[in-house]
Amino acid sequence: ADAIVLGISGSLREQSSNSRLLSSIRGLLPDGMKLLLYDGLGRLPHFSPDLDGDDARPHEAVREWREQLQAADAVVICTPEYARGVPGSLKNALDWVVSSGEFLNKPTAVISASPHPGGGSTALASLMLTLNMMSASIPPEAAISIPFVSKKLGPDGNVIDAKTLTSLRNLVQTLIRTVHKG
Ligand code: FNR
Repeated sequence: ADAIVLGISGSLREQSSNSRLLSSIRGLLPDGMKLLLYDGLGRLPHFSPDLDGDDARPHEAVREWREQLQAADAVVICTPEYARGVPGSLKNALDWVVSSGEFLNKPTAVISASPHPGGGSTALASLMLTLNMMSASIPPEAAISIPFVSKKLGPDGNVIDAKTLTSLRNLVQTLIRTVHKG
């Protein structure tokens, strides 16, 4: 069976630049690897430990989120920065898997993108603190922020900037090596 890369966009916006960047990863994957996009961020309930106990029946959306992470050989998260932080819906999803441990040793690449010069690097740093706390395996070359993103995407949402394509290609290659190291 094909190896699965689970793509998670931190933006719920229909025309999201982060979702578009994430989709562009599909064309960079080698044969035998496929990108699945997780689309459940908006369906997850607000995390509370009260809903997460042994006696509570797991919410359907939470079960689906955890199963998709478990089935993934690698994860790519591409997120905007909201008010210098990780968007609440993405952080909420991550809070649901702190104690269940799906990110333990999971090969993970992280991208932030913004039309602003900072590229969302503050959110990226915060996201990495959270994922490192959960012992995700994030190789140093698999964490990038992309400033001025609106100039780097064409009208169809394809990546039109050569440097950005090279960074994404390097990120994917690094992620693949991490998967193979097991
Ligand atoms: C933003 N944006 C933004 N950008 C940034 O670089 N740093 C920031 O702190 C913020 N804060 C912020 C808050 C809110 C509420 C919004 C709606 C936007 C701008 C943001 O980067 C821009 O809207 C991106 O296009 C969002 O990514 P998507 O939705 O295109 O993937």
